[in-house]
Amino acid sequence: MQTDFLVIGSGIAGLTYALKTAKEFPDKKITVITKTQADETNTKYAQGGIAGVWDEEKDSYNKHIDDTLIAGDGLCNEQIVEIVVKEGPERIKEIIAYGAEFDKEETGEYSLGKEGGHSENRILHHKDVTGKEMERALLDELGSTKNIELINHCFVVDIITQHHFGYLVTKSTLDITCYGVYVLNLHSNQIEKILAKITLLATGGCGQAYRTTTNPRIATGDGIAMVYRAKGKIENMEFIQFHPTALYEPGVSPSFLVTEAVRGDGGILRNKSSEAFMERYDARRDLAPRDIVARAIDNEMKRTGTEHVYLDCRHMDKEKFIHHFPNIYQKCLSIGIDVMQHMIPVAPAAHYSCGGIKTDEWGRTSVKNLYACGECASTGLHGANRLASNSLLEAMVFGHRCFLDSKEQVDKISFGEKIPDWKATGTTEPREMILITQSQKELQQIMTDYVGIVRTDIRLERAMKRLDLLFAETEALYRSTKVSPQLCELRNLITVGYLIVKGAEFRKESRGLHFNTDHLQKSELLQNIIL
Ligand code: FAD
Ligand code: SIN
Repeated sequence: MQTDFLVIGSGIAGLTYALKTAKEFPDKKITVITKTQADETNTKYAQGGIAGVWDEEKDSYNKHIDDTLIAGDGLCNEQIVEIVVKEGPERIKEIIAYGAEFDKEETGEYSLGKEGGHSENRILHHKDVTGKEMERALLDELGSTKNIELINHCFVVDIITQHHFGYLVTKSTLDITCYGVYVLNLHSNQIEKILAKITLLATGGCGQAYRTTTNPRIATGDGIAMVYRAKGKIENMEFIQFHPTALYEPGVSPSFLVTEAVRGDGGILRNKSSEAFMERYDARRDLAPRDIVARAIDNEMKRTGTEHVYLDCRHMDKEKFIHHFPNIYQKCLSIGIDVMQHMIPVAPAAHYSCGGIKTDEWGRTSVKNLYACGECASTGLHGANRLASNSLLEAMVFGHRCFLDSKEQVDKISFGEKIPDWKATGTTEPREMILITQSQKELQQIMTDYVGIVRTDIRLERAMKRLDLLFAETEALYRSTKVSPQLCELRNLITVGYLIVKGAEFRKESRGLHFNTDHLQKSELLQNIIL
């Protein structure tokens, strides 16, 4: 199969790009592929909303820029921050034009929420199911766009580069080029090749590398691992963001999120003695940036020997709560928690990958003809810690920028020739699929135990040793077994785990989300943290 533009991923990043490209080139072919069904994405689960400077009388670009830079703890690329903050509102208007609805006040003005690290109310939202509404609007628009082919249940195994037709490709090869991808078609169970002039990776995050995560099953870091295998550039993987308030529900995976917007509306974190402990950690209390709140909760849990803390909403207005957070209200009720009478048990969970495939200001990766945007990309916006609700915004801004750049390139590129078919000779059906599941659980346990919110050198060393063993076992299985999504995901998660540990080992300091007690500098942030 050949296509002009190949988009891998049907979340906000991939769909933003695909729609723009399809409208620009009605005579070209745009193909979107996704490994399960189209709407099963991190995007669909986004709750709090999308940040953007909406009312320039009350808010300003400079304030949003400053908030992003402060959260990013000195590692943001300031040029990229400015681009995203200034171009963001235009992109939000575009999705509104596709039909996405955001909540309004009685006055008809948009209702703007607040989340941790934001100095102003600037979060547009659709109740507590903003991502579902945005995904719906994008997929509806796609349904009425003729020249996009959407292929569900199609698992990308690897991007095709010169390596696949016999050239030695190393990290120093200057012209690594992408010719398309090998996919496992889950309808035919065959590996096929899709050749493309332009390939866009919009494969999302990697929360599944941890035992407790807010991310759905699809978030296995596939795009990041593929680019790493192709010898492309990956950066900042040590900055894994833990969301402070996932619902504590042992045995349930993924964890249900209790959006930060609840704290924005007045929710208060309390420990088992009912103390509002955030006062002891940061002057911004419950609305400090996420890295600080997650670390404080982690510390309170360790200090008091509990597996969760509480989010107290009992003082909040019931009608307003149900109006803004109907999904959370119902979910809590379904497990016997009436949030107006009982505090909600919450604990941190792996939530977002700030690093990923390194891209420039046009979403170009280090591999020719390969673009990346959305959570799988590292644009420089988030630095060491992402500001809440900046992710959906970044995905749309860079979906647009990838489109602007690739539309100028497409006619200069020809399809690759003599690309070999996938070789499956010598492989057999897996005898025990359970081995793959067990290895994935082992990986998640290693990452949770040794590479979580608080790290030490010895923990990182232990993690690496254990990952080495898992890697060797899984590679042996991969070489001898017929490819399956489960095996590929395991392989990708091990690669992502390795990249997180490697980044963490390399960073000899504590900064943003990477907190290593053997490398403490910022003593002012560390008061009350048990070491
Ligand atoms: P995704 O939406 O995750 O889409 C990834 C796509 O890639 C999927 O279609 C998947 O099938 C496809 N894919 C992956 N691997 C393969 C493969 N090997 N082959 C084929 N297809 C593949 N951010 C905010 O800004 N505001 C919020 O309020 C917010 N709330 C959140 C709440 C939750 C519970 C979670 C989990 C995240 C939240 N985030 C929020 C983060 C944000 O939702 C994500 O970062 C963003 O949606 C990622 O979009 P994406 O398009 O990059 O990837
Ligand atoms: C939330 O709603 O708390 C999540 C927001 C985000 O991840 O940006």
